[in-house]
Amino acid sequence: MPTTLEMKTPRLVTALPGPNAKRVLEQDARFMSPSYTREYPLVAKRGHGAIVEDVDGNAFLDFAAGIAVCSTGHCHPKVVAAIQKQAAELIHMSGTDFYYESMPQLAARLAKTMPGAEGKKTFFANSGTEAVEGAIKLARYTTKRDKMIAFYGCFHGRSLGALSLTASKSTQRKGFGALLSGVEHIPYPYAYRCAHGHTAETCGAEILEQLEGQIFKRLFDPEDVAGIIIEPIQGEGGYVPAPKFFLQELQRICRQHGIMLITDEVQSGMGRTGKWWAYEHAGIEPDIVCAAKGIASGMPLGAIMAKESVMRWKPGSHGTTFGGNPVCIAAALATMELIENEYMENARRMGDYLFGRLANWTKNFKIIGDVRGRGLMIGIEIVRDQRTKEKAADLRNDVVNLAFHKGLLVLGAGENSVRLSPPLLIDQEQADFAVRTLEECFREVEKKL
Ligand SMILES: Cc1ncc(COP(=O)(O)O)c(C=O)c1O
Repeated sequence: MPTTLEMKTPRLVTALPGPNAKRVLEQDARFMSPSYTREYPLVAKRGHGAIVEDVDGNAFLDFAAGIAVCSTGHCHPKVVAAIQKQAAELIHMSGTDFYYESMPQLAARLAKTMPGAEGKKTFFANSGTEAVEGAIKLARYTTKRDKMIAFYGCFHGRSLGALSLTASKSTQRKGFGALLSGVEHIPYPYAYRCAHGHTAETCGAEILEQLEGQIFKRLFDPEDVAGIIIEPIQGEGGYVPAPKFFLQELQRICRQHGIMLITDEVQSGMGRTGKWWAYEHAGIEPDIVCAAKGIASGMPLGAIMAKESVMRWKPGSHGTTFGGNPVCIAAALATMELIENEYMENARRMGDYLFGRLANWTKNFKIIGDVRGRGLMIGIEIVRDQRTKEKAADLRNDVVNLAFHKGLLVLGAGENSVRLSPPLLIDQEQADFAVRTLEECFREVEKKL
């Protein structure tokens, strides 16, 4: 009989949460910050591939991947070996003050993933938030301007600078007082709810008009704008892709006014959409790209990558103690190799397969308003009524919870969407299990209507 971790699909052996999980939950409630937002009581013990085992021996199929982080699956042997080797050799040195071989090696590898004739340089950070925080500083430093434009629904992190760009949920800002001044938000091109009735290809023209005709004329002179930051596919906000033309037009506007185009690829990057970066699908070349999450298979690493002509800040202008730590870099090098050789292609193939299987969901289930995304970044929007598109956060939460009780880990995104962000190594059997399980969940939740 295979061990739990060798299995491809879940096996539940206790009621959930099990007795050991309950003990952890009690201790957590006593000692942990209450700001965390756990959607269901999974208490993880170990993981392998796309399977996670909890403290009671229940095995789950992971279609959340630690919020789109475990790109190569849990504890991929090659990533583990790279971490172990590096940990035995050199754990820390601080790239701000000293050199080590692997740092420029990873930067060179990342540069190769980015299209465009101009060379690219990288600054390593510890997280997505820190990458965004650094990108704000780099855009300001390079342009000698201080205004920023961001989009409603986008999430860029929670430090005070990054939070100023985040406009996802007001609870993320509530109680924290004044944020960065000089930040303006405009709507994200959200085709399913397009105010002007456009399609997924054409939604957003009016937003660009608003940017050029209102923001630039009435609020910020474009020559004061340092950067426009966008998630090419909105993650936290509901897995909403921006149309190709929209990103291309944004690039045109940025170039026209000397504004830095910053793409936040923290969630959409590292092969998840079938290309290294989601912006590549639009054929654009951003000035600054932020990455984190899937870059090091779970080790904390963020990256700000920019055109050579943009990343010219002087020694001392930006730094970090831990960012680009040798162990994280080793994990990232192993991760990139796996993504390049196998998993990016698998993400594209399995994404196509899943979208094929979900093609009729809006017809088959009356609570599904929209299915969207790219590759293994799939959003399913749950509504109370397909005609009115009334958002059904309660039904979405029911689906996510039911899936957990059937052994499938998924997360919500936005107010009322379910996100599928599995490790990039899933196979057809696992995709089929996820589809069948979600269909059962939708049927059960629909019975309540
Ligand atoms: C698009 C995006 N940017 C930035 C962040 C912040 O990253 P981190 O949580 O690593 O600080 C996130 C996290 O979810 C994200 O999805």
